Formats: sequence, C-alpha cells, structure tokens
Amino acid sequence: MALTPAAGGGDPSTSPLPIQAPGPVNAEVQWDGFDPQTYVRHNYADLRADDREFLRRTRDFFAGSKLSGARCVDVGSGANLYPALALLPFAHTVDLCEWSTSNVCWLRQQVDSYDPMWDPYWQVCAEHPAYAALTDPRRRLARVARVTRTSVFSLPMHAWDAGTMFFVACSISAHRSEAERAIARFLRALRPGSPFALAVMLGSAGYHVGRRSFPAVSLARAEVVAGIAASAYELDVHEERPRPPLRDGYVSMLLTTGRTRG
Ligand SMILES: C[S@@+](CC[C@H](N)C(=O)[O-])C[C@H]1O[C@@H](n2cnc3c(N)ncnc32)[C@H](O)[C@@H]1O
Repeated sequence: MALTPAAGGGDPSTSPLPIQAPGPVNAEVQWDGFDPQTYVRHNYADLRADDREFLRRTRDFFAGSKLSGARCVDVGSGANLYPALALLPFAHTVDLCEWSTSNVCWLRQQVDSYDPMWDPYWQVCAEHPAYAALTDPRRRLARVARVTRTSVFSLPMHAWDAGTMFFVACSISAHRSEAERAIARFLRALRPGSPFALAVMLGSAGYHVGRRSFPAVSLARAEVVAGIAASAYELDVHEERPRPPLRDGYVSMLLTTGRTRG
C-alpha cells in the first residue's frame, strides 16, 4: 500500500512522497489459502535439474552422516516431499511440520501413499546404495511420517536428530528479522551435532501460487551463510543459478548442509 498526498493539491515541495509500506509479517498472511495442487504442479511436476542437484547433494550428505533410527523433522514441508524422502532410510520418525491447513491436508493424503509424480525423486535417491536398500519407500514413509500443524516459530528445542527446511526462511514473510528467526529456530530445534540441510531462494521478490501472492525476503548469500554459521559447523554451501528460472523474481537457489552447534 502506498501513502498518497491528500486530495486537493497543495504545495508539491511539502507533499509527502509515496512511502512503500513494508510487506506482511508471517502472522498476517492467509496461509490456509495456499493451494498445494497448484504449487506442486508448477514447482515439482517435472523434476528440474536444480532440484535434482539439491536432492543428490542432500542424499549424499545424509548418507555420509552416520544416521540411523533418527528422529527427523522437515519444517514448512508445504507441498514438497523430496526433503522427507532424503531423510527416509535413516529415520525412525519424520515429523512434517507445516502451518497452512491446506498443506497439512495435502501432506496427510500424500504420506499415506504418495503420488507417482514423486517416483523420479526417489529414483535419484536410489542411485545411492544407502537408499537403494529401501525397496518400498512409499510404505516406509506412510509408517514413519507424522504430519502436524506446527509453526517454525514454536518448534521445541533440541527435539530432533536431523532436519531439513527447504524454501521456507525466504518465503514466509517480507521481514528479514523473521527469516533470520526461522533459520535460528530450525537449527535450535535439532540436538547439538545434528546433520541438517537448509535451502533458500536468494534475491526473492515474492511469489504467486495460482492467483494468490505470498511474501518473501530478498536474501543475500553472505547473510544466509552468516546466519547459519552462528549455530552450525562443517558447512557446505552450494548455489544454483537456474536456467531457465522456475519463475520471475529470484536470483538463485542456495543449499547449505552442516551440523548444529546447539
Ligand atoms: C515456499 S513454501 C515451501 C514449501 C516446501 N518446503 C518446498 O520446498 O517447496 C513455504 C512454506 O512455508 C509454510 N509456512 C508459512 N508460515 C509458516 C510457519 N510459521 N511455520 C511453518 N511453515 C510455515 C507455508 O505454508 C509453505 O508451505
């Protein structure tokens, strides 16, 4: 919303300039209006090269992190199953924590028996022997996944052994402080030494799902890495500049893996 000078003219030298109001905070957004089908169709119906690379790196990272029987969490799962698939072979449980009720419903249906659309994502996982050993990922996900309506801002402390949070910190608010807080809360929810994978869009100007628009923060690589490094070690950072881009209004995608300090 722009503030405009009062009607009736007046001295232009003293009229206020239009002021761009800051975008919404997380609590002001109608998350229940998020349409998971539209989001999935646009973002994940075809496995893109950049998501394939993020999944491949996340897979190799978790496979090398000596996890087993772990309590895992994916935060802000929305309508994306591939972070949960990357945790699957090592998970005793996978908690899918999501705030939008429409996405919670979608997740509950999908974890019961996920759509064949996700099979190419599992095939990428299964290129690694630690994943290939799991012959029925669909049944395993149904057994270990638990979907809850939980906000990233109210996650319990040190509750999980491994976690993922993909495209959430950048995409839930127009306020930089909330992006920073989301990253800190996610990392704090993991026990010290826990492996994690965290992905963000850089330079995002907001996004549409169908006709609805959702806010974003235009994050820069250095600030994201600094925010994560405050609570983590053994960081590995990978940036993808998608060709062609998934949508207008962002610069690149950043994947960071590492372990939490606690
Ligand atoms: C851009 S989507 C990312 C979804 C998915 N993780 C992915 O990789 O595509 C952002 C997600 O964050 C969820 N979200 C918004 N506010 C949240 C909050 N306070 N806590 C947890 N999730 C939230 C939205 O409902 C949406 O599913």
